[in-house]
Amino acid sequence: MRKPIVAGNWKMNKTVAEAVALVAEIKAGLQGLDAVDVVLCPPSTALQAVGQAIAGSKLDLGAQNMHWEKSGAFTGEVAAPMIRELGCHYVILGHSERRQYFKETDEIVNKKAKAALAAGLRPIVCVGELLEERESGRTEAVVGAQVRGSLAGLSGQDLLKTVVAYEPVWAIGTGKTATPAQAQDVHAFIRRVLKERSDDHIAQSVRIQYGGSVKASNAAELFHQPDIDGGLIGGASLEAASFLAICRGAL
Ligand code: PGA
Repeated sequence: MRKPIVAGNWKMNKTVAEAVALVAEIKAGLQGLDAVDVVLCPPSTALQAVGQAIAGSKLDLGAQNMHWEKSGAFTGEVAAPMIRELGCHYVILGHSERRQYFKETDEIVNKKAKAALAAGLRPIVCVGELLEERESGRTEAVVGAQVRGSLAGLSGQDLLKTVVAYEPVWAIGTGKTATPAQAQDVHAFIRRVLKERSDDHIAQSVRIQYGGSVKASNAAELFHQPDIDGGLIGGASLEAASFLAICRGAL
């Protein structure tokens, strides 16, 4: 059985003080959530403080991005061992905002995924089609290429440590959620692609999150689809009550 995983992607939001206050509220509402992995992904500036604030709780820590090299002349970047040192066990890679605004390609995401795994981090690899790609019937071609490219060369053991996040770009921050049936179709397709490049056991074991305008009101129906194993939550993760309600949707 796959354990559902709900991750809050805070994006470029929350000062350290705001982040610590939000963690306190989330920690106070975690009762009954043992069956769900809950990961907080604050901005880099708040990783250390959030790492300290979650100590001793069931919450886990993730970064939103990293560079593929371990160190060097890459002004403005952070490396996998650096975020690992701050207590991160996860890192979001290839988010559509990184792909769109920072020109990240599947090849870059793949290098980052390998570097993350080498540093003991579990990558959350994001894939998803644009609206025009969906409307022209290319969803599977686009998502299939992203999954194959981003995860190229990963061993079966690496795949088992990897989380895939399916986030249709047209659903991110727009209030338009994929229907549970639309999301389930793509999740089942991603699992078929994983099987093609590993085996059935691995394909059935990898967790695949849904992301894109998940809210308390739609989380449970999405998360109860057979191939959806929790979610990657943006806007609704910035407030404790809505984030906790979404986590409960994965029970
Ligand atoms: P959203 O963002 O929940 O605000 O749509 C999801 C994401 O970008 O991970």
